[in-house]
Amino acid sequence: MRNLFNDDVMTLDTYIMFKLKEQTTKLTPELKAKGRAPISLSMGAPTANPPKALIERLKEILDEDGIHMYSTPKGEPYYRKAIAERMKNRFGVDMDPETEIFSLVGSKEGIANLIRFLINPKKEEFEKDVIMVPDPCYASYLQFIKCSGGKAYSMPMTEENDYKPDVEKIYQQLLNDGYKAENVKAMIINFPNNPLGVMTTKEYVKSCIDFCKKHEILLISDAAYCDMYFGDKEEKPFSIFELEGAKDIAVEFFSFSKPYAITGWRLGWVCGNKDIIQRFGKGKSTIDNGIFKALQKACAEILNSPEGDKYIEESNKGYARKQAIMVKGLKELGWPISEETVPHTTFYLWLPIPKRYSSSFEFCEDVLKKSGVVLVPGNAYGEHGEGYFRISFVCSDEQLQEVIDRFKADGFTFN
Ligand SMILES: Cc1ncc(COP(=O)(O)O)c(C=O)c1O
Repeated sequence: MRNLFNDDVMTLDTYIMFKLKEQTTKLTPELKAKGRAPISLSMGAPTANPPKALIERLKEILDEDGIHMYSTPKGEPYYRKAIAERMKNRFGVDMDPETEIFSLVGSKEGIANLIRFLINPKKEEFEKDVIMVPDPCYASYLQFIKCSGGKAYSMPMTEENDYKPDVEKIYQQLLNDGYKAENVKAMIINFPNNPLGVMTTKEYVKSCIDFCKKHEILLISDAAYCDMYFGDKEEKPFSIFELEGAKDIAVEFFSFSKPYAITGWRLGWVCGNKDIIQRFGKGKSTIDNGIFKALQKACAEILNSPEGDKYIEESNKGYARKQAIMVKGLKELGWPISEETVPHTTFYLWLPIPKRYSSSFEFCEDVLKKSGVVLVPGNAYGEHGEGYFRISFVCSDEQLQEVIDRFKADGFTFN
């Protein structure tokens, strides 16, 4: 049959995590036969069980009358009210549940649709709508922008710039390249950051707010990892709305997936500037009918509960322990990691590939084929990711130790 899809969708490849999964499934019999059954350090999906209280409540709620019917795209009032309470309790931020909060079928869906709503698809390169993105970044941003017919303009996040790209300089550079000021629609920031694992400072985020206000650009903050921290107080993630002026120009995305280990449930929210939220809502109301009400109700209850907070606290202690296993093991294998500078947010480690490999892909493929360990090649996250790989330490402590033992046995040293 002739191709019926638009050109932008035709350029897409399967999302990297699912591609790795397919590749691993194919190799599994061979790997098992040589005692290297696959261990996945690829997907950022906690493998622990969700909070017991959450599961128990969900079971009860399933028997309630009317709970199985359509919800609304915006989310049930109790869901939005609980989110407003969470924003207040966790960040000291006021959000109006009526006008400033909207439910999402996972934050990935919300970000994808917001990007789609912002971009007027164009073929001519310098006519394209532009979204400034961190580089490296959550791989989905790049795909969302590409298949919406826009241009993802890279903001390099490097050790040299302390992961604080100079946004004004980059903006001037994109104008010099030939993109038009009126087509620059949004800028995405993501702290704590996937894949780098780093947090940032309030001063830096304030400078992003001021920049976006000056140029009338929407600031999109992706806070999917805001509850994942295990360092000292300085690294505690904050909401963009703790900073002056943010509501004039920004929205922020949150997710239930990672803090409560419910990546499969698909719940999140976006909050912030009410004009943006309202317009976004009009688009969303044509796409889905909201989240399953039983999930909204159970999650609304866990969000401000002592059980929920305790669960997050314990998980974070676990991530600290898991990170220590990986850092110790990889240091013994020669990786240049310093306990003083390793970040204490998210559950990712971002590391250079050994110099004897010519690309991230080549290294990750060799590790998978020889050791059965699934890593993500850094170039999947953007141009500046080449030469690096990402580890997601979400599996058991025993599996992490097994990874280190396999690396030692199979000769995967840094030098
Ligand atoms: C930075 C970032 N944002 C958003 C998401 C999407 O999370 P979800 O759709 O499960 O809420 C992810 C998932 O890995 C992520 O890493």
